[in-house]
Amino acid sequence: MPSLRSFLLASFAIAGALSAECEGDVSIESDGDVSKLDNCNSWKGDVIVGEGVGILSIPTLQTIEGALSIAGATGLTSISAPMLRSISGTWTMQELTILSSVSCASLTSVGNINWVTLPALKALDFTSGVTKCDEVLITDTILTSLEGINLQTATNFNINNNKYLKEVNVALGNVSNAVNIEFNSKGVNVAFPDLVWAKNITIRDAGSVSFPKLESVNGTIAFINNTFSDASFPELTEVGGSFAFNSNSQLSNCSAPNLETIGGTFQLANNTKLTNIDGFAALTTVDGSVDFSGSFTNATLPALDDVRGGMNIQTTEEFDCTEFDNYKSDGVVKGSGYTCEGKLDEAKSSSGGSSTSGSGNSSDETNSAARAGVSIVALFAACAAMLVL
Ligand SMILES: *[C@@H]1O[C@H](CO)[C@@H](O)[C@H](O)[C@H]1NC(C)=O
Ligand SMILES: *[C@@H]1O[C@H](CO)[C@@H](O)[C@H](O)[C@H]1NC(C)=O
Ligand SMILES: *[C@@H]1O[C@H](CO)[C@@H](O)[C@H](O)[C@H]1NC(C)=O
Ligand SMILES: *[C@@H]1O[C@H](CO)[C@@H](O)[C@H](O)[C@H]1NC(C)=O
Ligand SMILES: *[C@@H]1O[C@H](CO)[C@@H](O)[C@H](O)[C@H]1NC(C)=O
Ligand SMILES: *[C@@H]1O[C@H](CO)[C@@H](O)[C@H](O)[C@H]1NC(C)=O
Ligand SMILES: *[C@@H]1O[C@H](CO)[C@@H](O)[C@H](O)[C@H]1NC(C)=O
Ligand SMILES: *[C@@H]1O[C@H](CO)[C@@H](O)[C@H](O)[C@H]1NC(C)=O
Repeated sequence: MPSLRSFLLASFAIAGALSAECEGDVSIESDGDVSKLDNCNSWKGDVIVGEGVGILSIPTLQTIEGALSIAGATGLTSISAPMLRSISGTWTMQELTILSSVSCASLTSVGNINWVTLPALKALDFTSGVTKCDEVLITDTILTSLEGINLQTATNFNINNNKYLKEVNVALGNVSNAVNIEFNSKGVNVAFPDLVWAKNITIRDAGSVSFPKLESVNGTIAFINNTFSDASFPELTEVGGSFAFNSNSQLSNCSAPNLETIGGTFQLANNTKLTNIDGFAALTTVDGSVDFSGSFTNATLPALDDVRGGMNIQTTEEFDCTEFDNYKSDGVVKGSGYTCEGKLDEAKSSSGGSSTSGSGNSSDETNSAARAGVSIVALFAACAAMLVL
């Protein structure tokens, strides 16, 4: 009778919140142990769920002021925490092989998400949606979408190796460290409709990308092995590090019409359908080198004024090098190393293999603790209990 249990437990929630029993690190080793949390609406300390738990049902808890750590519970099938609004620490879920249901209708704030190897988890049941979370790592799950994770800011947003993930569409406004969307389902649609700036961005295996508001990338932005044909960055003006498109087999139209400066290397390599490189009309400064290799017939950087590094332009097609030769002779290209050649058997890039930011899972822990007071829900529960009594 879960509903009666929930009701009675909710009735005691306030009393529990004030009792000393709702503090400290707690270990939940069996389904029976789950009742350790029953009299509480707020738990101050870490909640550690061990291998013997089958169903984690937490009907009353509203806040965990600590971590929620669930690892190696291979018998765990479901997690239900309808009242839980926030977890201030890291929510770890690792190697939960049959976990198929995670229902947290009220959850909006989590310190960090660290979910690794959840091979039965297809969807999240997060009605409110998590809007606050600092570091997100979701890897090796069968999630088909990230519905329920509606973050506005994050330090790291790393979604990799989720082979059924068809869509990543997140309202992030900025990411102070790295965005990594890599090795998910081939052709995953990636959209960051509100992203204005991020430090590093790495996207692999995407079927579409959308960054309509992206204005600046402080570090590196790299697109590797994607299958989209178009990539446009209408608002992008500045990339602090390198800007790279490598091995995007269908890419035919690539443009960043307002991009003025690139702090590192500007690399286009192995994009076999990119025949005309003409989408960078405002680019004036490249602090690293310009490195284009592929099978393009035309390329132009009409505003180019200062390249601190070298220049490498290599294509298998017939190509007119006049524009680039002039950049070398006029001193626009200042670094050593200049090549411009067409009709090559093999077009080689100068800076070697794909530039990436790795799978970007750095781990500076900054818990954005969301403290919560006595909630209205608990008050209602207490009043209801009084009426019944
Ligand atoms: C980051 O994005 C959020 C959400 O769009 C916004 O409220 C905040 O002002 C942004 N912060 C910075 C430093 O750009
Ligand atoms: C990145 O650039 C944006 C816009 O120029 C700036 O607001 C932000 O503070 C920078 N972030 C970092 C981490 O340097
Ligand atoms: C692109 O993906 C294929 C498999 O689909 C893989 O063999 C290849 O190494 C990848 N290339 C890069 C540059 O990541
Ligand atoms: C390339 O993309 C830009 C920006 O989306 C668009 O304006 C332009 O028409 C496209 N060019 C081609 C040839 O599709
Ligand atoms: C490509 O270059 C060739 C020769 O350099 C030129 O005739 C042609 O007009 C160019 N095409 C475009 C689309 O710019
Ligand atoms: C381009 O592809 C070739 C052959 O697959 C590979 O050796 C090279 O590293 C790739 N270049 C880049 C910059 O990814
Ligand atoms: C950002 O990308 C650069 C270049 O690939 C890399 O050196 C750096 O470690 C990356 N930073 C993060 C936080 O991923
Ligand atoms: C980052 O990845 C490395 C190597 O894959 C791993 O050892 C480390 O635990 C990961 N860190 C986090 C925070 O996931």
